[in-house]
Amino acid sequence: MVARAQNFVCQSCGAASARWAGRCDACGAWNTLVEEGAATPARGSRKGRLFVIEPLKGQTLEAPRLPSGVAEFDRVTGGGLVRGSVLLLGGDPGIGKSTLLIEVAAAYSRRGQRAVYISGEEAVAQVRLRAERLGLAEAPVELAAETAVEDIVATLSHGKPPQLLVIDSIQTMWTQTVESAPGTVTQVRGAAGELIRFAKRSGTSVILVGHVTKDGQIAGPRVVEHMVDAVLSFEGEGSQQFRILRAIKNRFGPTDEIGVFEMTGSGLREVANPSELFLSERDLGSPGTAVFAGIEGTRPLLVEIQALVAPTSLGTPRRAVVGWDPSRLSMVLAVLEAHCGVRLSGHDVYLNVAGGLRIAEPAADVAAAAALVSSLAHASLPADAVYFGEVSLSGAVRPVAQTAARLKEAQKLGFGRAIVPEAARTEAPPGFALATIAALSELVADIAHAGKPPLRRVGNREGE
Ligand code: TYD
Ligand code: MG
Repeated sequence: MVARAQNFVCQSCGAASARWAGRCDACGAWNTLVEEGAATPARGSRKGRLFVIEPLKGQTLEAPRLPSGVAEFDRVTGGGLVRGSVLLLGGDPGIGKSTLLIEVAAAYSRRGQRAVYISGEEAVAQVRLRAERLGLAEAPVELAAETAVEDIVATLSHGKPPQLLVIDSIQTMWTQTVESAPGTVTQVRGAAGELIRFAKRSGTSVILVGHVTKDGQIAGPRVVEHMVDAVLSFEGEGSQQFRILRAIKNRFGPTDEIGVFEMTGSGLREVANPSELFLSERDLGSPGTAVFAGIEGTRPLLVEIQALVAPTSLGTPRRAVVGWDPSRLSMVLAVLEAHCGVRLSGHDVYLNVAGGLRIAEPAADVAAAAALVSSLAHASLPADAVYFGEVSLSGAVRPVAQTAARLKEAQKLGFGRAIVPEAARTEAPPGFALATIAALSELVADIAHAGKPPLRRVGNREGE
């Protein structure tokens, strides 16, 4: 059989090939091919077993979704874990995956659900120590340090199945059905397959922890991404305290919601109002920053966009962007050049979304343009203003969804005015000033002219 012969498996993408090669043909990664045993040895031929086929219309007795009570976690999963579903949580080592999951397990157990936490990386005592540090020592979570999937499944198949099973991590698990060494793609896939079967059979919701490699992929278990119901990623900047939980794939819920946490000395704290956090270190009064009133999922989120525009010393000016779509930046730069008379071809342009957040909304166009022009003109923008609006290739500023929610959030956080598309005119909350713009060129003119008085200049920091 051809499939049996292909036993060099790429540890990055899972592609199999018959011969060893220095570079994987499928994903281009170097030195990732490892010889592995055949996935599942043929067990000899057997007759098909008969199973019951059920009608679509039927009764599901239990609530299909179990909320944990950790609001930020529930938001990202779409209202809690679905019974019998399997979720993969990816993230850099040390980002706080184990911390998050012991907190989630504790929250479930405190609600009277059976929650089991299996660590393949740490001893029970270590997990217990962490729980003590988090003030969760009294929570009725059941612990074990195990790596053999068959043993785990056999143990949990006795008695009432748990509502939640945490496997930390999938890379440490191994199954007897596969001959390869633990940590290889074949093992990870085999172990995940066993656990997924257990989840579907018992109705237990399973969370698998997956490590992420340096280049941002969930190592090895990329193949697992296709097998599970949801993939969440836990992200954060090493130097900063906050962490963002984001759904990359979710068969049962949205993928645009984010959950925000802050890592403290006593565990992860939920951040119910992330705008406050993202704006807390604002550098008031310096040119090149604009506050964008965005929406993440269903929640308004204010975030600072920072730009630096400086004359270039290179033949080809640099364009670097963190937290936003580079092609969106190119488009805004092109519109500034073509329709607003702003010459940027001799300048390096850097754009950064503060706090490590990633923005996908086109509504950020106006805020990004404001930050860019503010930096170029050395004119700081009013500290109490927020910006949003989509820019079209013709230079027109187009309306965006959920204007009222954006403005309300801005007012709640002490902002007094907004620079917005014309359609937003009727949506201002009382006491909130709106400046509407029909074209990006109006914004540019405003920043360039009003750069003198009512806006403050560099070095003039009386607003702080
Ligand atoms: P951990 O959950 O072990 O990360 P992961 O499982 O993703 O590898 O978290 C490890 C980091 O979190 C470690 O650097 C210490 C920090 N931390 C805190 O700051 N406060 C805490 O209460 C805990 C438990 C960890
Ligand atoms: Mg861990």
